[in-house]
Amino acid sequence: MTNTAALPADPAKKAAPPLLEAYSGRRPARTPVWFMRQAGRSLPEYRAARQGVGMLESCLRPDLAAEITLQPVRRHHVDAAIFFSDIVVPLRLAGVDVEIVSGVGPVVAEPVRTAGDVDRLVQHRPGDAGAITEAVRLVVDELGDTPLIGFAGAPFTLAAYLVEGRPSRDHLAARTLMHADPETWRRLMRWAADLSGAFLRTQVLAGARAVQLFDSWAGALSLRDYTAHAAPFSTRALGHIDDLDVPRVHFGTGTAELLVAMRDAGADVVGVDYRLPLDEANRRLGGQTPLQGNIDPALLAAPWEVLEAHVRDVVERGRAAPGHVVNLGHGVPPTTDPGVLTRVVELVHSL
Ligand code: CP3
Repeated sequence: MTNTAALPADPAKKAAPPLLEAYSGRRPARTPVWFMRQAGRSLPEYRAARQGVGMLESCLRPDLAAEITLQPVRRHHVDAAIFFSDIVVPLRLAGVDVEIVSGVGPVVAEPVRTAGDVDRLVQHRPGDAGAITEAVRLVVDELGDTPLIGFAGAPFTLAAYLVEGRPSRDHLAARTLMHADPETWRRLMRWAADLSGAFLRTQVLAGARAVQLFDSWAGALSLRDYTAHAAPFSTRALGHIDDLDVPRVHFGTGTAELLVAMRDAGADVVGVDYRLPLDEANRRLGGQTPLQGNIDPALLAAPWEVLEAHVRDVVERGRAAPGHVVNLGHGVPPTTDPGVLTRVVELVHSL
């Protein structure tokens, strides 16, 4: 599903949930809102559910993954659930030795740096995703009308972890590889795209009604490098669900210069981080693309009056775009008071 922004109002779709209306470039009566990382450490019920269970293990236990996915919907009355999983889950399912280390992030036992490393990596086929299918079905059964958003890591962000072996600030090794050995880079990126594409497809077939491709580290790239060495593989990942009619959100951080390229990679909706005001993002995108974003997560810890003024400003600037789903400009910080998130939802719904 692409270029739906200018679709005329379709009376048959009147009853669609606000999230899907906004993703289609329409203006539902209630402005929809959800939060990246809404399922996670800011919630006491999350910390209780995770007691003694490793991060990736919890993603692969369908009852637990479903429960954690539903927690923020029950508590905050957000307009969407985001599937509780991680961008590295498909790597684990494919048999790659990866862990999520608390306070650090994904750590890959054998970083992939050379043509030989990539030869070995691409032998890994997508693993059995039965646990994902089961978890999504459990979630969708409980959600009623509230849509579930499926997601995957974009190939560049996955490759950045695989090449660096761990989170990195400037992604030097990944950026070196794309130029030093472009053919090896392309093989790595094709493999990552197919892994993420299969993960998206599993979630949609099991009942997810929208997807988000996270290219969290795309902002490390120049527009030229992004266009040549990353975007075609995001297109390839999204291509796995070309035949499934769900809206596709493309999000990254530090992407002010990349928004058009990210849209043109095959997205219906562009997620904007907190650095660029939404009216300016809309201008750069030619006023044709629904937007998602972009409350600064730092302000969740500011006095309510400061946060409220900021949320009102985000909603106001978002009116410039053909559709707007309120979200943060990046994930919920673990130290966030969950009561503040509930209050933000109430505020957005009241505007
Ligand atoms: O609520 C949600 O958004 C759904 C679940 C979700 C998680 N990770 C759960 C998670 C989603 C959508 C992701 C995506 C993800 N994972 C991204 C893209 C979004 C972004 O933040 O840019 C990235 C880059 C990752 C990789 C990753 N996984 C990182 C950097 C970390 C943080 C490590 C830390 O401890 O600071 C993780 C772990 C992770 N993924 C947690 C959660 C809830 C924390 C695990 C814990 O509770 O210990």
